[in-house]
Amino acid sequence: MKNSFGQSIIITVFGESHGDAVGAVIDGLAPGIPVDRSFIESQLGLRRPSGRTGTARREEDRFEIVSGVFSGMTTGTPLCIMIPNTSAKSSDYESIKDLARPGHADFTANEKYHGFQDYRGGGHFSGRVTAAVVAAGAVIISALKIKDIRIGTHIFRCAGIGDRGFGDYGPDIDKLNSMDFAVLDPEAGIMMRDRIEAIAAEGDSTGGILETAVIGLPAGIGEPWFDSAESVISHAVLSIPGIKGIQFGDAFDMADAKGSEFNDPFTVDEDGKIVTVTNHNGGVNGGITNGMPLVFRSMVKPTPSISRTQYTVDFVNRKNREISVTGRHDPAIIHRARVVVDSLTAFCLADLLTEHFGTDYLCK
Ligand SMILES: Cc1cc2nc3c(=O)[nH]c(=O)nc-3n(C[C@H](O)[C@H](O)[C@H](O)COP(=O)(O)O)c2cc1C
Repeated sequence: MKNSFGQSIIITVFGESHGDAVGAVIDGLAPGIPVDRSFIESQLGLRRPSGRTGTARREEDRFEIVSGVFSGMTTGTPLCIMIPNTSAKSSDYESIKDLARPGHADFTANEKYHGFQDYRGGGHFSGRVTAAVVAAGAVIISALKIKDIRIGTHIFRCAGIGDRGFGDYGPDIDKLNSMDFAVLDPEAGIMMRDRIEAIAAEGDSTGGILETAVIGLPAGIGEPWFDSAESVISHAVLSIPGIKGIQFGDAFDMADAKGSEFNDPFTVDEDGKIVTVTNHNGGVNGGITNGMPLVFRSMVKPTPSISRTQYTVDFVNRKNREISVTGRHDPAIIHRARVVVDSLTAFCLADLLTEHFGTDYLCK
């Protein structure tokens, strides 16, 4: 029953949607990494629901750093961040506690935990737990920024509407990191929001695809086989509730391509750096970074909680039933999930980088 991940730096997540708090412990961080509380707050703000496309559950996310930080710097001992839950409304779940909400983990959690799981609001399987991941991830994102490694994610597609792709990575990443609804083309963003609202008005939900880019990574990072850069990032990103697929570079889009189209030819640029002319492989060859932007896409499914009546079962009494999910839910979670993807990507890269260069890499 593992809630920990990582080799050189290990993150453990804990908490339930309607319990006292959610939180994370990061162990193995170097001492002397600056911890910027206002950056943690702003990252949590990007995950928080807002406006008409967000759930009515509005948590303030007032986090507490319980250990591992002294005088604004990491100490090198386990860093524990906790975020109290203050806006849980558990009564919404009492009448449906034995019903398996379709697309949710109620039935599977009951099978695994034999009925002892906290079912309220999805318990440990709730998107609420990702607040802890974002708070912890903010510490790592800022540490990577000091090393000139920058991460940005945009909503590549939502409800059938496409954004433009990455252009000039640096300015695009900076722009995305200050946006609430992260799109590169503002017109596409307006259309996506309108479509989400229209789908919500029908009592339904939608999903889409996120595209993430990382720049500034050195070549040579990744541990073949099983801890390849692709494997580690996939493991973490697919652990995010609601994410169902991932591809690096152009992957599935190029399933019908020829080798001559998918191969990325190498060349030496004017600064003497080895680069590839194209980046269909998403900056990774043989599971190891090649120094090009690391690019991947992850698929976020339509939010499972919808107010329409659906078929389901009472898994305690083994009876067919119908369910209409009450409670407060997002008609789309994609715009909130992107900062979770950034956070776990940062974590994976920090883990691989410190495995390669040693723990103190992040504070030197
Ligand atoms: C930031 C975030 C917020 C989420 N909010 C909701 C929500 O309001 N309603 C909902 O039904 N699912 C929400 N989810 C998704 C569910 O937690 C997830 O689909 C469910 O636990 C089943 O897991 P699976 O989709 O990975 O199989 C959210 C996910 C994330 C990452």
